[in-house]
Amino acid sequence: MKKKLLITLIAGMAITFTLNSCYYDQFQELHPSLNTACDSSAATYSGDVNKIVNAYCIGCHGSSGSGGVSLNSFDNVKAAAANNKLMNALTGNGVPSMPPNTHLDDCKIGSIRHWIQSGMPNN
Ligand code: HEC
Repeated sequence: MKKKLLITLIAGMAITFTLNSCYYDQFQELHPSLNTACDSSAATYSGDVNKIVNAYCIGCHGSSGSGGVSLNSFDNVKAAAANNKLMNALTGNGVPSMPPNTHLDDCKIGSIRHWIQSGMPNN
């Protein structure tokens, strides 16, 4: 009897662990329109950059943006990109990394980099 209880407990813990380890995948499920296949070479402003900024940055960089940086419009994002502040913050190059204490994954950073290198079109 006791052995069965132990097995049930361990199985329960294993299931809980498995479910929890999927936690980070759920963001993509909630935002299926984000570029999940990691083809950053096809990145556009409306399809990628704007969605990434809205998901990860706008909470602190709205109209009265933290650090004097507002990312609430195409022009503001373009201005931050043009003076290198955007990419420096994303890579933590000489300034605190953004979002604070973490990094976006390589695909998202690559998408923004591609958009900048393409001349920051409003596409
Ligand atoms: C939790 C709030 C928060 C979030 C989320 C956040 N930032 Fe920031 N950001 C700040 C603060 C606060 C500063 C001021 C610098 C500092 O003291 O860390 C800052 C500064 C900056 C700066 C100016 C850096 C400089 O001095 O040149 C840029 C650019 C920036 N953030 C971009 C971003 C981007 C892009 C994202 C999303 C990927 C983001 N931030 C997400 C709080 C945030």
